[in-house]
Amino acid sequence: MHIHKYEKYWLVFGVATLVAFLIILGVGAFHQGSHPNNGKKTLDYEKVKETAPFDNPGVHKVEGKDWDYEVVVIAAAFSYTPMEIEVPLGAKVKFIATSEDVMHGFQVAGTNINMMLEPGYISEYVTEVNKVGEFLIVCNEYCGTGHTMMHSMLKVVDPNESH
Ligand code: CUA
Repeated sequence: MHIHKYEKYWLVFGVATLVAFLIILGVGAFHQGSHPNNGKKTLDYEKVKETAPFDNPGVHKVEGKDWDYEVVVIAAAFSYTPMEIEVPLGAKVKFIATSEDVMHGFQVAGTNINMMLEPGYISEYVTEVNKVGEFLIVCNEYCGTGHTMMHSMLKVVDPNESH
């Protein structure tokens, strides 16, 4: 069978592109760990408010853990509980969040905090807040008519400065 020279080039190009994509996907998924949900923790999404820690949403100071604060967040169409989060500068914070209904996002603008909140799953992220300011928290998963209005605020305050 005779294959034209240019056809051969395109075949090689096509296969090489496919292999490159698979490598990128593989590195992203297994090496950098970019999965929809990093935790395997689950809960009954119909009983979120009765299930710890979501029975007590908000900012909690914790002792004897690898982080200083736990921020427990419930997302529901189209708001977050709590509506505002305030943590001191330099604190190591663990965000623990879930959704009560559909899929929502939890992206804190200007930081590297970005979680996907799925009903039935608990999303967690530990980070150190090292910038003073007010950071808008937005939902980046389309969740319905109120999606664009769904937001909250992360306030990082300097404990040595009165405000
Ligand atoms: Cu919640 Cu979009």
